[in-house]
Parts: sequence; C-alpha cells; structure tokens
Amino acid sequence: MTGSDESSTFDVENSRRQFPALARSVAGKQAIFLDGPAGSQTPQCVIDAMVDYLAHTNANHGGVFATSRESDHILHEARRAAADFVGTRDPDEIVFGANMTSLTFALSRALAHTWQPGDEVLVTQLDHDGNVAPWMLAANDAGATIREVRVRPEDCTLDLDDLKEKLSPRTKLAAITCASNLAGTITPLREIARLVQKHGALLYLDATHLAPHRLLDVARWDCDFLVCSAYKFFGPHVGLLWGKRELLGMLPAYKVRPAGNGLPDRWMTGTQNHEGIAGLRAAIDYLAEIGWRVAIGAGERRAAIVAAMEAIAAHEQSLSRHLLAGLAAMESIRVHGVCQPNRLDERVPTVAFTHKWLKPRAIAERLAEQGIFAWHGHNYALRLSESLGLEPDGAVRIGLLHYNTTAEIDRTLEVLANLQ
Ligand SMILES: Cc1ncc(COP(=O)(O)O)c(C=O)c1O
Repeated sequence: MTGSDESSTFDVENSRRQFPALARSVAGKQAIFLDGPAGSQTPQCVIDAMVDYLAHTNANHGGVFATSRESDHILHEARRAAADFVGTRDPDEIVFGANMTSLTFALSRALAHTWQPGDEVLVTQLDHDGNVAPWMLAANDAGATIREVRVRPEDCTLDLDDLKEKLSPRTKLAAITCASNLAGTITPLREIARLVQKHGALLYLDATHLAPHRLLDVARWDCDFLVCSAYKFFGPHVGLLWGKRELLGMLPAYKVRPAGNGLPDRWMTGTQNHEGIAGLRAAIDYLAEIGWRVAIGAGERRAAIVAAMEAIAAHEQSLSRHLLAGLAAMESIRVHGVCQPNRLDERVPTVAFTHKWLKPRAIAERLAEQGIFAWHGHNYALRLSESLGLEPDGAVRIGLLHYNTTAEIDRTLEVLANLQ
C-alpha cells in the first residue's frame, strides 16, 4: 500500500524534537500536552513557513507582480498538498476557510437552497456541535426536518440500526463525524456511505478529529464532502473543505460579485489567511516526512502520508492500550467509550472518563498543577455528553497524539491514582 521497499518504526523522539512547545515546563516539571483534540502543537517547519510567508511573499491574490504571484503559487501548492492529504487528485476541489465550523455554515446555507419542506437531514449524537447546529439552522431555514441518529451509550459507537431506520427517500444529507472528539470512537465510514447512498442522500463527513490519527481517504469512503481543521493536525488555525467538483460547482455559493465564480474561488470568501495556508502545507509535508522516514522509498507525497498515518496509528494504539489498562485498574474511574484491547482499531487515543466523586474540572485542575494539560466538560460534543448522562459537568478528556509517550501516560496515571 505504501509502495515502500524498506521500513523502520516510528521515532517519537525525533518527532518531539521538532515541536518547540513540547520543551515547556510548568512549576519545574516538563509539561505534558494531552490537549491535542482541542488543538495540536506545531512543528518548527510550520512556524518557519508562516514566518517566511509574512517576511517574503505577503500579498493579496491575483496580482501581476512578484509577491502576489509567489503568494498565489504558495496557495496553489497548499491546495495540492491538501489534495494529497484528503485523497483526491483534483486540487480545485480543496477550499480553505476560517475553520471547520465556518466552512460548514457556508456549505449548509448553500445546500439549504436545494431543500424543501418534507426533506430530512440526518445528524448524530456522536458529533461535535460544529457538525450539528449548522445543519439544524439550515434545515430550519428550508423548512426541512432534522433527524438525530443515536449513539450506543455502552461503548459510544454510532447506532447503525438507528441510522438505517432513520434513512429514507426523504433524506437529503447525512452529516456524520469520522471520529468522536470526546470518546474517540471511529465511525465505520464505508458502511455508512453505502447506506446513505442507497437512499440517494449526500454524505458530509467531519474529519476534524480523525485527521491527526488516521489516513483521510475521500475516494475510498466515497463521501460527497469532508471538512477538517489544520490546527488539529499540527498546522495553524485554518479550515479545509473538500467537495466533489460537480457539487462545489453547482451549489449556490454566497459570494461577493467581483470574486471569481470558478473553483475554489467561489467558496473562498474574502481575503484568506495566507500565512496560515502556507503553514497548513508545511504541516502536511511534516506528516509526509514521517512517511518518508518510516518507509524509505514511499514515493510520492500521498504514499508517504499513507505510510506516516500507518506508523502513527500503530504508535497511538500502543499508547491507547497503556492508558486504558492503567485507567481500568482504578476503581474510582469509569471510561466512556471503547475500552477492550482487541477493539483498539475502533478508536483513536482520545479517552473520556469520569470519577466516582470528583468532578471533571477538579481533576483537570489537579493535572494542571502537575503541568499536565487536559480538557474537561462536553468539549462541544454536547449530545454525546447528554446521552451519557454526564451534563452539566461532562468528562475529563485525555487526548493523545503521536508526539506523546508512554512515560507521559505513566506520570498522568500516577496523578490520577493519587486523587482523593
Ligand atoms: C470533531 C470536531 N468537529 C468540529 C470541530 C470544530 O472545529 P473548528 O474549531 O475548526 O470550527 C471540532 C473542534 O474541536 C471537533 O473536534
């Protein structure tokens, strides 16, 4: 699959050295970043790409002079990198924007023009609200009906029987996450795509949480749209939307009149975050570099990304196994989500847990005192937190990324073991 003729294992220390933020300490202790699901740290190459853009090629789009031409070249190269990242051959299918939520609002507003009363839009209890509220508002504007697919609270997986039951010829679109940003569940995308397509509906995938952990593959998944944000996969705060060319070309985009009507310009409202887009490309190249290191001869960038994500997934699975085993040994802690060691391919290393008597915020504070950064609350996975009965406090979320280590997990488990 990687086309490689030689492979070596993922070198976590080599990756860590590239992230200046990881050298930080708090109160004399090395900081531990377990806050990745809310935003990863960035390697030096991303920081350099952004500084370099501002220092040498800072210009607006479409001019005939040197900096504008160079800037446009950088944007084009970033689109090519993003195409490799999501798995399309067509860079014009890549749209950049402020973030996942803003891009989803833009697209949902356009899609709403194609809906009418009686049409239905499916959302899920597993999703971040960024992939729920825009669809609720757009459906409301069109007089369409929202239907919500349930999760199975026992393991935080999407209830596919409920999905089957709620799909019908009236369904126009299903908005579904690739992975839960609270419980870490990966959704079975091929199966979901088959079900959705059987009813002639469009499939809008939120890959924001999956992107730093697993390969994105729009061609294999056969979805219609996919959205994510670079700040979750080691880049800056820029959103990325992929859509099938014919859909992006046909839908009524909200745009200013002088802006081009071709792809992707018709979706890229206003002046973009050019330095951020330069950084996004560097983040994708950072991942490709991992692939070229672990699979010498991996060939082109897409093949290198495939190799990188395989290596990252293997490293992260061993982190998940270690963390889940440590938490399982603590009587006062309950993990919400897939826990069994033989089901680790159904989850990313994002682990939500609650404690018998301590509130999530109190635990996050205890971790923070020790220089361990972790989030608490619903993390915008509002319906999941509600359906698990965790509101208003939510859960503690430990979010591991490829730059985390077993030693960091041990230090975290030690703090949790001493909670009282
Ligand atoms: C799964 C998921 N979807 C959507 C979002 C929203 O992303 P953005 O901040 O880019 O709008 C997040 C952010 O945490 C997320 O984790």
